[in-house]
Amino acid sequence: MNILLTGGSGFIGSNFVRLVLRERPDYRVTNLDCLTYSGNPENLADIEDDDRYTFVHGNICDLELCTKLMHDCDAVVHMAAESHVDRSIIDARPFVESNVLGTQTLLDALRRADPGGTKRFVHVSTDEVFGDLPLDKPEELFSETTPYAPSSPYSASKAGSDMVARAYAHTFGMPVMITNCSNNHGPYQFPEKVIPLFVTNLIEGKKVPLYGDGKNVRDWLHVEDHCEAVLTVLEKGTPGEQYCIGGNNERSNLELTHAILELMGKGEDMIEPVTDRLGHDRRYAIDATKIKRDLGWEPTRSAWPQALEHTVKWYVDHPRWWQNVKSGAYREYYAKQYGTR
Ligand code: NAD
Ligand code: DAU
Repeated sequence: MNILLTGGSGFIGSNFVRLVLRERPDYRVTNLDCLTYSGNPENLADIEDDDRYTFVHGNICDLELCTKLMHDCDAVVHMAAESHVDRSIIDARPFVESNVLGTQTLLDALRRADPGGTKRFVHVSTDEVFGDLPLDKPEELFSETTPYAPSSPYSASKAGSDMVARAYAHTFGMPVMITNCSNNHGPYQFPEKVIPLFVTNLIEGKKVPLYGDGKNVRDWLHVEDHCEAVLTVLEKGTPGEQYCIGGNNERSNLELTHAILELMGKGEDMIEPVTDRLGHDRRYAIDATKIKRDLGWEPTRSAWPQALEHTVKWYVDHPRWWQNVKSGAYREYYAKQYGTR
């Protein structure tokens, strides 16, 4: 199978490329990525010479380019997006452009290239489209039947993209599937997200900025378990269906921070309580029964605290990667090669 992957130079995308090439020797992956601040070809440096992998520098909002790439592929996995909540609070426009218009452009390109609707399209989305859950009702979980109630500009743009994907599946009978996953952790995550930010700050001797009261809860899943789930949906999912993905691994930000401090041999004095995120969602938690029951997916790499230890160790062992990212040095290097967005 020839997969067209969008956003393959980012955190989850680069882990997905590596997983597919490792587990499906007869598959090929073409990665369409415009290299925003979070897209970094260095994330795939170890496989760039694999002849089953091709990089295309371009934007998912470019209809002509996307149409050409749709002709050449057998299936699409769509991950490209603006992904950081805090950035969406500062400037929502790139989120609407890439997440909503980019998704619509890709689906139009697919319709043009494949009017018969034979090529499967997995739209990778987030649990944040459902809004948040109360802290005092642990029995409440998000599932495929939870109504959409996004609260940040980021989650609103992802909800918009899900609606476009649903509408194209319904109106044009396209084999589109949507996945909604909880928080991922693992190698190559941009150090603006909480785990790599906190770990790398501590290595640099800086404090970790904990938002608000630290009681907000996230359901943590190792990125490779998410990638395995997306591959499972691509291969076995039912067209038109939606699948929630999560690890049954809820942790408050305070618990997570204490675990990281302990792993790094640091004390509580390294916590810096800071002003809360505007509109900060309280709790995310996923009921993944449907993907487990219907498609046989199970997380195998997310057991806590071993999974967190593994992730923390990766950042400790790869200082050159995150130092280049934090200093912006990688941006200068790739801007010379590809130009800026
Ligand atoms: P990321 O920011 O690390 O990577 C996004 C990638 O998309 C980058 O390589 C970027 O260059 C590319 N991109 C952005 N806009 C583009 C455009 N217009 N054209 C082409 N490429 C573009 O994000 P991530 O954390 O890897 O998330 C990937 C996907 O998974 C997103 O759709 C996100 O909403 C979803 N998701 C993420 C998580 C998580 O915990 N990180 C959880 C659930 C779902
Ligand atoms: O749930 C899935 C989502 O998870 C994805 O759709 C998003 O793309 C991904 O970024 C992530 O969103 P969050 O906002 O949950 O992730 P983030 O790492 O930014 O924050 C996790 C929690 O940590 C959140 O409650 C806010 C808190 N936090 C975050 C940062 C960056 C802090 O306390 N301090 C920080 O400096």
